[in-house]
Amino acid sequence: MATSNSLNKSLLMRSNNCGELGTSHIDATVKLCGWVDRSRDHGGVIFIDLRDQSGTVQITIDPDQGIDLFTTAETLRTETVLQVNGVVKKRPDESINKKISTGEIEVLAEGMKILNPIKRNLPFTISIHDEEPVKEELRLRHRYLDLRRERMNRNLRVRHKTMQTTRNFLESEGFIEVETPILTKSTPEGARDYLVPSRVCGGEWFALPQSPQLFKQLLMVGGIERYYQVARCFRDEDLRADRQPEFTQLDLEMSFICQEQILELNERLIAKIWKAIKGIDLKIPFPRLSWHEAMNRFGTDRPDMRFGMELKDVSEILKGIGFKVFSSAISSGGCVKCMNVKGGNSTISNVRIKPGGDIFSEAQSAGAGGLAFIRVRESGEIDTIGAIKENLNDKQKKELLEKTEAQAGDLILFGAGETAIVNKALDRVRLFLGKELQLISKETKNTIWNFVWVTDFPMFEFNKEENRLEALHHPFCAPNTSDLGNNPEEWEEKLPKARAQAYDLVLNGLELGGGSLRIHNSELQKAVLNTIGIKEEDANNQFGFLLDALEMGAPPHGGLAFGLDRIVMLLTGENSIRDTIAFPKTQQARCPMSQAPAKVNSKQLKELHVESTWEEPE
Ligand code: AMO
Repeated sequence: MATSNSLNKSLLMRSNNCGELGTSHIDATVKLCGWVDRSRDHGGVIFIDLRDQSGTVQITIDPDQGIDLFTTAETLRTETVLQVNGVVKKRPDESINKKISTGEIEVLAEGMKILNPIKRNLPFTISIHDEEPVKEELRLRHRYLDLRRERMNRNLRVRHKTMQTTRNFLESEGFIEVETPILTKSTPEGARDYLVPSRVCGGEWFALPQSPQLFKQLLMVGGIERYYQVARCFRDEDLRADRQPEFTQLDLEMSFICQEQILELNERLIAKIWKAIKGIDLKIPFPRLSWHEAMNRFGTDRPDMRFGMELKDVSEILKGIGFKVFSSAISSGGCVKCMNVKGGNSTISNVRIKPGGDIFSEAQSAGAGGLAFIRVRESGEIDTIGAIKENLNDKQKKELLEKTEAQAGDLILFGAGETAIVNKALDRVRLFLGKELQLISKETKNTIWNFVWVTDFPMFEFNKEENRLEALHHPFCAPNTSDLGNNPEEWEEKLPKARAQAYDLVLNGLELGGGSLRIHNSELQKAVLNTIGIKEEDANNQFGFLLDALEMGAPPHGGLAFGLDRIVMLLTGENSIRDTIAFPKTQQARCPMSQAPAKVNSKQLKELHVESTWEEPE
């Protein structure tokens, strides 16, 4: 434990950390502070495990050291905050504990002081000896206790080290950290905004940033050529295990760069993080897949590459087939895709694929009407129920088996219909079976790191409900120059089909981060906003400051943001980002500890010029 030499040692609360004591300290007089992890009375001698952040050490209280000391020790409840002074002794050989770093020694207590007693029953145990599973709601309600447990303590340390490694790396590459506003204006990242009413400017509202996107671009216009920020972002969206309303991005932006440079720099950053936390040398560069290829082969833009079972488009082979479900899907512009479940003929029963079955339900929950299937029998003959078999001619049968590489004992599952739905359904089924068939085994779940860059996203996707195009990433991504051409008169026609110079980094099926080269030409920016239905007047109202800046010397620039919480979730092997955040929200976007959000009084609302329309449900 490092302390300044000028400090008077007798004033210090402790001389050492519990977990650092070992045989080199034998006979030293020490003063320790911590929590009582557990205490045991062994026939007249009391043993206390004292715990601080560095670990635990055994304190021995011998009645010979004084009756007052012994009586105090007898009454100690677990988690009492305690100060102990004593002498480090070697443990007798028979009581050496090889499992803990301090297991060869003990501290013979000479005095102790209760710094804070326990005044009520604890809702769960904290001891490292007894990490019983505790309901998440209870953990979150008493998060200060949960943080005292080893698991959360370890996770927060991994989080800190991830940020520290990122900062060190980016600073060595010439980046500077710049903070951008929290009280700001809406940025279109696709989620709902959290709004804050202005007291001073009545009737006007700030939006909390969904990301620092516009500000980091403006920093580039401001001549900060390499920016980064550990940035808090706010999105009011449906929550899942990998989504929080308030989360943190490792956000960066660079001027005068090409896409390759951004990908290369970020690969080195990720490799540094994995080396620092896991001690692993990742193989870089990471593989790349175009968005188109990812959708074709996996049905998703965040493919889990830890296993194969890829999707095959068999529309070409099956067009014109007498089986209506297939032929009408193809003739109406959709597709028929399938996947080969190796050995599935014997492991997967018809019941599971037919209505009511679990595999059927996976496909159905993604919007599919059902799953067709073919079994390849041991004889090599194919078998199915329904009309597929009768309608397949020998040529189709042969081509199908070739394309899917199906052999005796395999099961081929088909999705047919609108391409987006087929992709979504087969992606779900693929992931479901990948887990069930142990293609991603439990043992290797947290040791295989299959990173992939997905590139060349389309600029836009069609929003059926609103009957309009919307930006797939955000409307500041630069279109692919070869898709757009140099003639601004053709932009209106070419933009909707253009690819973006945008990329996502995906790890084991989870999107870790994404970014793009940005538009630095104001005319092109207006044309893109126009394509998603934001007319010039609205564009000026919403992003006039950006459009102005683009006309005053904006350099070509681009960047990326990683989800810090997600990175830490994978590094710690947790299943939810809630376990990587000190004080997270529940699925209902609440904090069970502080009880936020909470009501405010009418005076506060009045000052903010706000009136609530909320009615309590009866
Ligand atoms: P994007 O919206 O893809 O890009 O966000 C970047 C990364 O942030 C993480 N993320 C989240 N993590 C937890 N909870 C959430 N609700 C949540 N939403 C997103 C994901 C995601 O990959 N401005 C752009 C970046 C850029 O273009 O530079 C942006 O925000 O890991």
